[in-house]
Amino acid sequence: MADKPLLINYTQLNNLWMKWLTEPDYTKFDRWLKREAADWRKRLKETMPLELSQAMQHAMRFGQLACALELIQASGLDQDWETWADNWLPRDAEDIGRNNFWYWVQRRSHARWYIPNDWQAGSRQTTVDTTEEYVRNNPDSPLALIWFGISPELLPLINERAELSQWGANAKQTFIRLQQSRPPLWLRLRSDQDIKSMVGELGGAGVQVAKNEHGLCATGGFGISQTAAYKEGRIEIQDYASQQIAATVNAKAGEKIWDACAGGGGKALAMSNVMNSKGVVVATDLHDYKLVELKKRAKRAGHLNIRTFTWDGEAPLRLPQEIARQKGFDKVLVDAPCSATGTWRRNPDARLRLNEEHLSELLTIQQQLLKHASEGVRTGGQLIYATCSWLAAENENAVEKFLAEHPEFVLDSAKMLGAPEVDSDTMFVAVMVKKA
Ligand SMILES: C[S@@+](CC[C@H](N)C(=O)[O-])C[C@H]1O[C@@H](n2cnc3c(N)ncnc32)[C@H](O)[C@@H]1O
Repeated sequence: MADKPLLINYTQLNNLWMKWLTEPDYTKFDRWLKREAADWRKRLKETMPLELSQAMQHAMRFGQLACALELIQASGLDQDWETWADNWLPRDAEDIGRNNFWYWVQRRSHARWYIPNDWQAGSRQTTVDTTEEYVRNNPDSPLALIWFGISPELLPLINERAELSQWGANAKQTFIRLQQSRPPLWLRLRSDQDIKSMVGELGGAGVQVAKNEHGLCATGGFGISQTAAYKEGRIEIQDYASQQIAATVNAKAGEKIWDACAGGGGKALAMSNVMNSKGVVVATDLHDYKLVELKKRAKRAGHLNIRTFTWDGEAPLRLPQEIARQKGFDKVLVDAPCSATGTWRRNPDARLRLNEEHLSELLTIQQQLLKHASEGVRTGGQLIYATCSWLAAENENAVEKFLAEHPEFVLDSAKMLGAPEVDSDTMFVAVMVKKA
């Protein structure tokens, strides 16, 4: 979908991009950009224009394609794209020239920036058109993946997912196509809020929202955090798939729930939201600073039954007294650290960080977290495992490995959530029950 035309200061954009290229190891882009914006505020007494960060996102997505299009422009479509992509680095964008780079990114993202639309338009437009036609006719080709902002080496993994989830050709194509765009900003209402009045209230505050069969989303999104509804914790920003993970936990008033990797508290808050302040959500994480954020959000929303403390999944949790008395939690959620492949639509830089070594570390941590968290589940209780990844290795295979080593648990359900079915992130959730 085409974004609104962007009004961009090209020099600033280019400087920003050049600075990013010098970042080591594909530093997390959104955090880096936040730091940059803070720096701008300090030095220039101005906030980085939103358009610049949008353009940078486009560049993350279509940087590889820009280099490919330049090559097509010079020597045609017929290349060994797989080998080419294996060796491609974001820094290669420098070699094709800044004007060329931004021209292709601009064309592909349907944005309009500084470059006059007739800039060498004839032949370059032909290159875009012929590539697009090729992609249409060869949807499984390496170039097609590059066109949609995905590295071709991932095709076997996407095929594996498609087969496991029985996606079929259309769903697989939708999944691939969705990777070229951001999902909308999904919103979750506090349980005492009425959706119709919230739509009116947000509209009145200048935030466009749309309600569909899956929930509420901000179509522009920007400005939500400035609204009274957000500041008062009556509304939260939470992706559809993430909301579905919390819904799968199916928290009930009076239950004792442990959110073992609670982070900033997206799911902990959503669970507490339906518990009517009865029972408890024990929210732990390795990082205290994340729990600080969680506490702030819980206070804002008035969720009083959340308790937080740090926990490193390297060892089992010493159960709080009241939990030990009932021999474990009713439900334990392990929302595990993962490759975050399911959030590439929001974080296109994350695909640059996916490599075998990192993935193998993650697989080890996930098993360790599952093992130690599972010791906190009471007999008959549930262990719920979730990721924001679509890789089989981190999902179905991880669950299978855990179950093979822990026969006291039995699988109740496992499913993928979100895209391609819904315009959102893609996540996984599995429910396992501790046998009596
Ligand atoms: C996917 S995120 C959790 C997101 C969170 N549940 C939410 O809904 O907002 C995974 C979390 O696991 C935490 N984590 C990573 N390694 C850990 C460990 N060894 N022990 C406990 N938590 C860990 C990370 O700090 C991160 O917050």
